[in-house]
Amino acid sequence: MNTKLHKSVLLKETIQSLNIKKNGTYIDGTFGSGGHSLNILNKLGPKGKLYAIDRDLEAVKIAKKISDPRFHIIHGNFSNIDLFFKKNKIKKKIDGIILDLGMSTMQLMSKNRGFSFKINGPLDMRMNQKQGISAAQWINSNNKKTIANILKTFGEERFAKKIAKKIELYKNIKPITTTEQLSKIIMKVKTKKNQKKHPATKSFQAIRIFINQELQELQIFLKKILNILNKKGRISIISFHSLEDKIVKQFMLKNSSINDIPMGIPISEKQIKNMYQKKIKIINRIFPNIIEILNNPKSRSAILRTAELQ
Ligand SMILES: C[S@@+](CC[C@H](N)C(=O)[O-])C[C@H]1O[C@@H](n2cnc3c(N)ncnc32)[C@H](O)[C@@H]1O
Repeated sequence: MNTKLHKSVLLKETIQSLNIKKNGTYIDGTFGSGGHSLNILNKLGPKGKLYAIDRDLEAVKIAKKISDPRFHIIHGNFSNIDLFFKKNKIKKKIDGIILDLGMSTMQLMSKNRGFSFKINGPLDMRMNQKQGISAAQWINSNNKKTIANILKTFGEERFAKKIAKKIELYKNIKPITTTEQLSKIIMKVKTKKNQKKHPATKSFQAIRIFINQELQELQIFLKKILNILNKKGRISIISFHSLEDKIVKQFMLKNSSINDIPMGIPISEKQIKNMYQKKIKIINRIFPNIIEILNNPKSRSAILRTAELQ
């Protein structure tokens, strides 16, 4: 497998946003092929530490090739970040964490993983092949109403109902087990030739997000992260579609504003102080520039948001 395939998105901007301290402790929650991790390591001094996480065993295999005493790789979901801290006896709070969401080019281009409608292969789509059910198992065991709901919710697919109906029709004849079968069924519904995106783009995105519980992963992670960050610690998240970005944006807005104090409720001075304290400060919101988009068209939908714990 060619690990050079993945071009890290907003690399320079993310590293700058983290404001790396030489002896700090950092986490890369989405190692991928390690583009961001290697750049963080380059900025760290001899006492610095970088813990990387990925739920994909192929990514972990790549990470294991890095022999650097400052670097540790953990296989699992970033939503379990608190458990990793306990298990690895990490007592220190962290100075920065990055999430570069979505899938890597290695995952997308692998014919065995089933992420791409352009490459025929088993309809799997799991980032961790040892966890949960494959897209094929899910599609063959659920009714058209459930399938339509997922296509609409996670893909914002206008033709969700029609596609789900067609899927039901075809799977009654023969189970759907390959990416090609699914994409051909979708193309029978979305027949217009002048569409900007491939007709299966939204449905594949929806099924992938659902199978990997991507939005729940992000929500659980965000609930835990402020307890793990050091004061002035930074969190930088790159998202690739509006559903993800909305979650990140709301988290940052909510924690960077002051709560209203409810009237007439007896509360202590300490409680008032806590409620009046902004937990984080928003640092930036950055989009890729035109040069990056031309060099790496996959970056076009990326948004980087960074915040700092107060
Ligand atoms: C876009 S790639 C990261 C690329 C990386 N920043 C680089 O420069 O090479 C996203 C990676 O995050 C992993 N991933 C996605 N969701 C995850 C989760 N909830 N927990 C752990 N890893 C996850 C995927 O398996 C994939 O390898």
